[in-house]
Amino acid sequence: MDDLGLEQLLEEIEQSTASSSTELEQYRIRYLGKKGRVKELFSQLRNADTGVRQALGAKLNHIKHRAEEKFESLKLKLSSDKPEDEQEADLSRPGVPLPLGSRHPISIVRNQMVKIFEHLGFAVSEGPEIETDWNNFTALNIPEDHPARDMQDTFFLQTDPDILLRTHTSPQQIRVMENSTPPIRIICPGRVYRNETISARAHCIFHQVEGLYIDEKVSFVDLKQTLYYFAREMFGVDIKTRFRPSYFPFTEPSAEMDISCLICKGKGCPVCKHSGWVEILGCGMVDPSVLENCNIDSSKYTGYAFGLGIERPAMLKYQIADIRLFFENDMRFLEQFQSAL
Ligand code: PHE
Repeated sequence: MDDLGLEQLLEEIEQSTASSSTELEQYRIRYLGKKGRVKELFSQLRNADTGVRQALGAKLNHIKHRAEEKFESLKLKLSSDKPEDEQEADLSRPGVPLPLGSRHPISIVRNQMVKIFEHLGFAVSEGPEIETDWNNFTALNIPEDHPARDMQDTFFLQTDPDILLRTHTSPQQIRVMENSTPPIRIICPGRVYRNETISARAHCIFHQVEGLYIDEKVSFVDLKQTLYYFAREMFGVDIKTRFRPSYFPFTEPSAEMDISCLICKGKGCPVCKHSGWVEILGCGMVDPSVLENCNIDSSKYTGYAFGLGIERPAMLKYQIADIRLFFENDMRFLEQFQSAL
């Protein structure tokens, strides 16, 4: 028996190349597969004389080993020739840090507001953005044809005039009052809609945080104290506040609260229209007829409510000149806001 062509086989293996994974697989099948050359030669050897078997067996083992090594080196070469994203994972490579997202400025300010009121014992109650006429208007003392409806240009849903996009978060208070008994102490953060011309200062979408506290003997003093506390927590201890009489159909008496302008510190600038003050919320004592509409005994209970916008405080806090930036989702704008909240 000759050497079974082992020298030549070894030579062939050493010279092998693979320029694609198909060629690599062909190499594997040809030399290392179940019906490959190495296996075939081992089975031929089984019939050979002991001496020959020992001599050639060792050589064949060496060839097998070399064929395996060659396979690994061809494989490695093939993968390092590949573009990076097609390479097999190299587990020893250091990780690539993922860029962290940032919160939307409206969410940051909303969360801050919620946290402040939660400290005072208010619970969060969220409701639907699509509302009924009853919850958004009628139960809030705004009957049909009442001029106060003009204050809130409404988007109605096509098919049914009783269904609309809420124009404020007050309807959520109606839902809560109808379904619970006092004491009630809630805030309702959420998105609201008004059919307004979009400009740098107004948008048809915006956000409010509405508050409601109903119990025995709740007074206007409680309301003022709560809002003073809120203003100091939100804008800092140096903030000044003032209340001005106002009108809302669902509160009596009603007021609006201004804070000293954060941009010019009350000296007067274009943002506060040179008055030194910026209006941030409407408030008042809940009108007894609203309580009655929700089956709450108005001879026993009184309450206050307030409605706070989120956009304006956010614009003051971050010195944002155009409200439209909040709704455009421009990454260059959004990436500037980082917050733990
Ligand atoms: N819901 C009123 C608005 O959006 C704000 C408000 C709420 C005023 C509660 C008074 C009391 O205009």
